[in-house]
Amino acid sequence: MTGSPRPTRVLYLVVCAAPPAQAVGELVELLQEQDRTVCVIATPRAAGWIDGAALAEQTGYPVRHDYKQPGTPETLPLADAILVVPATFNTINKWVAGVSDTFALGLMNEAIGLKLPITVVPYVKSSLAAHPTFERNLRTLGEWGVIVLPNEVIRMKSAEYSFDWRRVVDALHNEQAAE
Ligand SMILES: Cc1cc2nc3c(=O)[nH]c(=O)nc-3n(C[C@H](O)[C@H](O)[C@H](O)COP(=O)(O)O)c2cc1C
Repeated sequence: MTGSPRPTRVLYLVVCAAPPAQAVGELVELLQEQDRTVCVIATPRAAGWIDGAALAEQTGYPVRHDYKQPGTPETLPLADAILVVPATFNTINKWVAGVSDTFALGLMNEAIGLKLPITVVPYVKSSLAAHPTFERNLRTLGEWGVIVLPNEVIRMKSAEYSFDWRRVVDALHNEQAAE
């Protein structure tokens, strides 16, 4: 008996606890239109902000926010690329320090070692974005080969709860074209 074929163009969409997390289903839809297989991974805090059941239904994969139990099977296909959006001050700083205390960070740290294509979209208010550690860490991510989009590039000036996901989709598309 043969198993089902491995899905192609698997993108892990890592979601941190910032307001765009609540609208991330819109981004999933756009990514799926680009023939991507999307798996949503939330930080533990973001998991409480999103509709995990709806996203699982939309993607066909469970929304993971924690490490699996030892000895239990993997629930997600292997990733071909990683997209972190919205990326918080907290998760970005921990990532560069190599901290793996959330499942999301564990995947992000491994992705650096595996040299997977990674795109990060910071969403951090200006007072925190001006912190010297944050600025330095974004530069470090760039040096490691991560595509770092400008902070809050998805923020729409006109509406607080609407996000410019097109910027993210275009960045992924361009990154792929450059490969
Ligand atoms: C209503 C609300 C909005 C927040 N918005 C942001 C934000 O835009 N960017 C950010 O970096 N943190 C924001 N935070 C703080 C993060 O949620 C907090 O640092 C959290 O620990 C991040 O966890 P995570 O990085 O594991 O997702 C917000 C918190 C609250 C309660």
